[in-house]
Amino acid sequence: MISSEVVDARRRLLRTKSKQEAILAATKLIIQTGKKAIDQFGSFHIALSGGSTPKDVYSELSQPQYQEALNWSSVYIYFSDERCVPPTDKESNYRMAMDSGISALPISEDHLFRIHGEESPEVAAKNYEEILKARLKGRPFDLILLGVGEDGHTASLFPGTEALKESERLVVANFVPKLNAHRITFTFTTINAAHVAVVLAIGEKKEKIVNEILFENVAYPAGAIGTKAHPALWII
Ligand code: 6PG
Repeated sequence: MISSEVVDARRRLLRTKSKQEAILAATKLIIQTGKKAIDQFGSFHIALSGGSTPKDVYSELSQPQYQEALNWSSVYIYFSDERCVPPTDKESNYRMAMDSGISALPISEDHLFRIHGEESPEVAAKNYEEILKARLKGRPFDLILLGVGEDGHTASLFPGTEALKESERLVVANFVPKLNAHRITFTFTTINAAHVAVVLAIGEKKEKIVNEILFENVAYPAGAIGTKAHPALWII
């Protein structure tokens, strides 16, 4: 089992000695959580993170040794946020995940739920929220994988943006002034309901923001991930 340290009532921390060790720890946690969810509920609902950090996790998951590690036919894959671009765009989180290894997993198309970034942001967010309601039927995600930006954002919950205030919706369109673009993102409501929320914060560039969030209690969106009921696991 992964041995992590307690940061506070809402967060735990797994310190690793290398990027490879962090990637393996995240991969093993996904497999362990998946097995438990399938044993308990008959299915495993996981939301993937965008950005570059998780690419190596998706690549590791697609390796042959994991083909038998999980009953992949009971796995359902979602995305915690998406850019407002088509799935073929190099900015697409869906494209990044598929190209990094997710497309090699023995998962059928109808178990993979892409956020339609090519649609208008509000329509895409509403439609995705309907998918979550229809597929999860009120059950929380078994695992949500997240990253953290150097500005403290997670998913597409950026500092100072409207989505931070949302407490009803599961998925919203969020205008991000610093990007001058909309994003589609899970809200804190969705993320903090998850049985397991993992924040991958690997590499020297993330050390400052990790320390500010976990040890200096500087207020950032990523710091709001985790609850007493479901403490977030930060992997650094
Ligand atoms: C996105 C991600 C975002 C990401 C962070 C960290 O759409 O970009 O969802 O929240 O996790 O920006 O990105 P890196 O892993 O590239 O540092």
